[in-house]
Amino acid sequence: MAFPEHRPRRLRRSAELRRLVRETRVEPGDLIYPLFCVTGRGVREPVVSMPGIDRLSVDQLAAEAKDIQALGLAAVILFGIPDHKDALGTDGYDPDGIVQRAIRAIKDATPDLVVIADVCLCEYTDHGHCGVYDGVHVNNDATLPLLARTAVALAQAGADIVAPSDMMDGRVAAIRRALDAEGQSDTAILSYAAKYASAFYGPFRDAAESTLAAGDRRGYQLDPANAREALDEIAADLEEGADMVMVKPALPYLDVIHAARAAFRAPLFAYQVSGEYSLIRAAAERGWIDEERAIDESLTAIRRAGADRVITYFAKQFAHGFRG
Ligand code: PBG
Repeated sequence: MAFPEHRPRRLRRSAELRRLVRETRVEPGDLIYPLFCVTGRGVREPVVSMPGIDRLSVDQLAAEAKDIQALGLAAVILFGIPDHKDALGTDGYDPDGIVQRAIRAIKDATPDLVVIADVCLCEYTDHGHCGVYDGVHVNNDATLPLLARTAVALAQAGADIVAPSDMMDGRVAAIRRALDAEGQSDTAILSYAAKYASAFYGPFRDAAESTLAAGDRRGYQLDPANAREALDEIAADLEEGADMVMVKPALPYLDVIHAARAAFRAPLFAYQVSGEYSLIRAAAERGWIDEERAIDESLTAIRRAGADRVITYFAKQFAHGFRG
């Protein structure tokens, strides 16, 4: 059928008709909210490069977790900023480390809220790299036992899911083996399988104080030019025992999300990262963009591309405005 019989505008005449034929929906239960945890008491410290996002001390997390649960969000993902950073990132696997304490506080307040803990050394190392660093290279195999120890410590503190974001080869297998050996076989692994070496992480590094002292992450994170390689990374992580996989960042990599959705059956997550958040916020602050619509459109696009769930700093704001 062709024009004039075929008139696609018929189904766009009203909000109700558009809703009737809408292919993709986003709801609060699709979204995961990141939390930055710091030491101290009574701390609610704005992240300058991410307006609307605060770093919270552990005593603030009970109220925050209840709020998040009431909004119907799917889960939280935790990042820690320790007081003490060193070459081997020891706070990451200290049983009393910042994220371990944060997990216990959240699980005390909201036992049913799903808690995902990011597993990486970069927030805990003084050089800011995601692994053991000799000043030139990040040593893959020397990093694996430290990641495994971190994952075990997070699981023992009560994390439901550990999410390795370091991009070392073989880390999913190392983490799975360590969790199972320590009686944590129920802890799931969400692998940041396709994590790109992206400029869009800039504001996060400010929030997590994980800016690199020297070098860059291109030696271990994926080259933005490569999509086929991302599918191999995902396949390898699933083979090693990942329960869920992630593509990160989200909006610049919709083709990778789409290809991953077609190639694999595992739950697929996408991370709308700090830079994606701050671009929208900054333009909205200047009155250059309609913030609510830009948030809605970006999350819809990520879901339309094939992501089952989206990690986003907009999760709470989206849920507050959600009308069903
Ligand atoms: C840790 C980690 C990073 C992000 C999530 N986990 C930073 C990085 O790899 O540099 C980025 C999240 C964001 O930008 O919102 N490895």
